[in-house]
Amino acid sequence: MTARNATILRALLACAAAGAAMPLAGCRGDRSDKPPRQFFPDMDDQPRWKPQSETPFYADGRTMRQPVANTVPFGVSTVISDAAWAEPFMTKRADFLKESPEIYEGTDELGEFVTSIPIPVNMQVLRRGQERFNIYCATCHGVNGEGANPPGNEHPEGTGSPVGRRWSIPVPTFHNPMYLPGGERGQDGYIFTVARKGVRTMPSYGHALDPHDAWAVVAYIRALQTSHLGTIQDVPEPERAGLGQPPAPPPAAPPAPTPAPTEGKQ
Ligand code: HEC
Repeated sequence: MTARNATILRALLACAAAGAAMPLAGCRGDRSDKPPRQFFPDMDDQPRWKPQSETPFYADGRTMRQPVANTVPFGVSTVISDAAWAEPFMTKRADFLKESPEIYEGTDELGEFVTSIPIPVNMQVLRRGQERFNIYCATCHGVNGEGANPPGNEHPEGTGSPVGRRWSIPVPTFHNPMYLPGGERGQDGYIFTVARKGVRTMPSYGHALDPHDAWAVVAYIRALQTSHLGTIQDVPEPERAGLGQPPAPPPAAPPAPTPAPTEGKQ
């Protein structure tokens, strides 16, 4: 075979190979209106109903069925347990079912904001609330809850927390009587809801504060308000000196005991 013939043969073979590859290439990525080839149909084709559509089959006319009673919503957590080992990362059964609107929504059965914290408050809860408050709320509302640039306290360079004073509108102080218990917006359930869902220009913190943490924050805000309203008289005597306050005047001498009347019977 001459060199020229070999070249022609190679060219012909290349053409044949390209021709053979074309139909193969055509199988992949080709657009077609025809149904795709099904080599193993398995359960590809089955009768089904589309969600939210109508059917004459069921009496209520809906294709979608109500979940059976007591069905537990799924997808919140991978661990549901009341066991001690699961403590750090568990979702307690009660948290899963969210049966109490007071605890999980901050509202009673009529939808009104609850006026007292529906979980037991102790020192541990307050400390947790302090920690969460300092992380998530103090940035704008200040570590003492004093707000930033509140009306009547404006300052050319801004007052209050660093983020809060750059906010487009004044960040309210929690010491406004409006936010105290009994105030217009002072319900515990309202503050809980604002913390979890945000309000007007305030972002929500529900992604960061689960309901228990949000209640802890409410409890801590109450502690801040109480201490703001407190006077030196509320500070225990041994700790007043450290605050640079004069010690309290000694308590008035108790009235001299009146002698018990003597029975005059003789
Ligand atoms: C990024 C800044 C920012 C952070 C962080 C922030 N707030 Fe606010 N908050 C605001 C602003 C701004 C307003 C006023 C919103 C308005 O009136 O538009 C506000 C208002 C409020 C109000 C009053 C709502 C009303 O109706 O008067 C409460 C209560 C409150 N915040 C609680 C919290 C709590 C609790 C946290 C922490 C979980 C928190 N905020 C974190 C900016 C913030």
